[in-house]
Amino acid sequence: MTVPTTGNGINGTAIKVLPASFYDQYLSNAAKERKPSPIRGLFPLELEPGVISMLAGKPNSATFPITSIQVTSRFPGDPTKEVPLTVEGPALAEALQYSATVGIPSLVTWLTNLQSTEHHRKQGEGWRLSVASGSQDAFYKAITALINDGDSVLVETPAYAGVIPVYESLHCEMIEVPTDEKGIRTDALRSILESWPAGKPKPRTLYTVPYGSNPTGITAVLERRLEVLELSRQHGFLILEDDPYYYLYYGKAARLPSYFSLEPQTGEVGRVLRFDSLSKILSAGIRIGFTTGPIPILNAMDGHTASANLQTSSLTQAITFAVLDSWGYDGFKTHTNIVSEFYCQKRDVFEAAMQRHLDGLAEWSTPEAGMFFWFKLKLSDDPSDEVDSQAIIREKAFKGGVLALPGTVFLPSGSKTAYVRAAFSLLGEKDVDEALRRLRVVLLKEREDRAQKA
Ligand SMILES: Cc1ncc(COP(=O)(O)O)c(C=O)c1O
Repeated sequence: MTVPTTGNGINGTAIKVLPASFYDQYLSNAAKERKPSPIRGLFPLELEPGVISMLAGKPNSATFPITSIQVTSRFPGDPTKEVPLTVEGPALAEALQYSATVGIPSLVTWLTNLQSTEHHRKQGEGWRLSVASGSQDAFYKAITALINDGDSVLVETPAYAGVIPVYESLHCEMIEVPTDEKGIRTDALRSILESWPAGKPKPRTLYTVPYGSNPTGITAVLERRLEVLELSRQHGFLILEDDPYYYLYYGKAARLPSYFSLEPQTGEVGRVLRFDSLSKILSAGIRIGFTTGPIPILNAMDGHTASANLQTSSLTQAITFAVLDSWGYDGFKTHTNIVSEFYCQKRDVFEAAMQRHLDGLAEWSTPEAGMFFWFKLKLSDDPSDEVDSQAIIREKAFKGGVLALPGTVFLPSGSKTAYVRAAFSLLGEKDVDEALRRLRVVLLKEREDRAQKA
């Protein structure tokens, strides 16, 4: 087997690019059995010069009523400057028509260059990118491409509640890998894998949200990221890096490299599948996410897309491209910096109110990315008095006029927990203050009731 090598690793050594055959052991039966779309697979041939195509059953765009799309977008760094954008001519024709499964070429190229620059990854190192209808769509397709019914999967816990039902629907054994304020607990991960029963297939994937995790708000430190990468090599699992809060980092220290970016340091690339989302930085309703990673996995995901929804909407891709193209990469950077600063201020307002109202009633650590506070209710000095945030938040807090999410929804096991997730993305200062004041009233009453029962 020839192993393609490109670029240089950390000490100038060649980087090994894992060959396509490496992924045979990772792809699910569904992915292996899915045949390429008989029509979509031939689409590239239509582009051959001189070819007259009678291939695709595309509708004739002369019948489409939309004649242009006008969008007005704020220019990064100058809220007073609104840029009118028009999608017309060939771009409009592309926006209104079926297009490539991976995404419209202009957007794919723009995003590929972004990934290459942002994550310092050379093109030609065995990776590519596909556009999806949000990163949730991408994740769902990745799981279908990689997981067989009943497989064991490693899941950073607490976990984003949106992935748990996906694993459940495949009857996966979710192995909870605990996290702390530094990210995934690599000691626990190592011990899970080192004590894995002989003869039982080891998990082939690890799901993690490295920046401003949903729900914990934690950003994994560098040391942990490197250890996870090392363990992935030792134990053969792929890292599913779900990173929708990457651009919502507002910590004081320099931004940490992604797993995708760190991977070449291990001397070998091809074990990271990265999910990005434009939901938090451009629009959640536009439904654009993208997956970056090993070509064979992307091919399998595209196979799923070709049979599930054919492609992500060309129209929203065209609008996205028009906005991004009008900004350029520098404008994108400026915009994401402004967005992260916005959430930083929201975080500060929320934390100040937490200190005013929940001091002594809850404990938390301060998020440096994303939009969530994850706090533990402290309602008794007796450690044996188990606090279940579900009953308190769903019933009592709701009656008291305030809502948040009980932590149990983020635990694959669904076990009881004293933790609560609060999103600080939307509320203004007055509402934050009032919400946490109301929560304080509920918690004080709960504490009193518990003291009386004791
Ligand atoms: C960790 C995580 N992954 C994925 C998603 C889904 O994002 P998208 O809107 O790109 O589908 C979310 C949304 O909140 C999320 O928090």
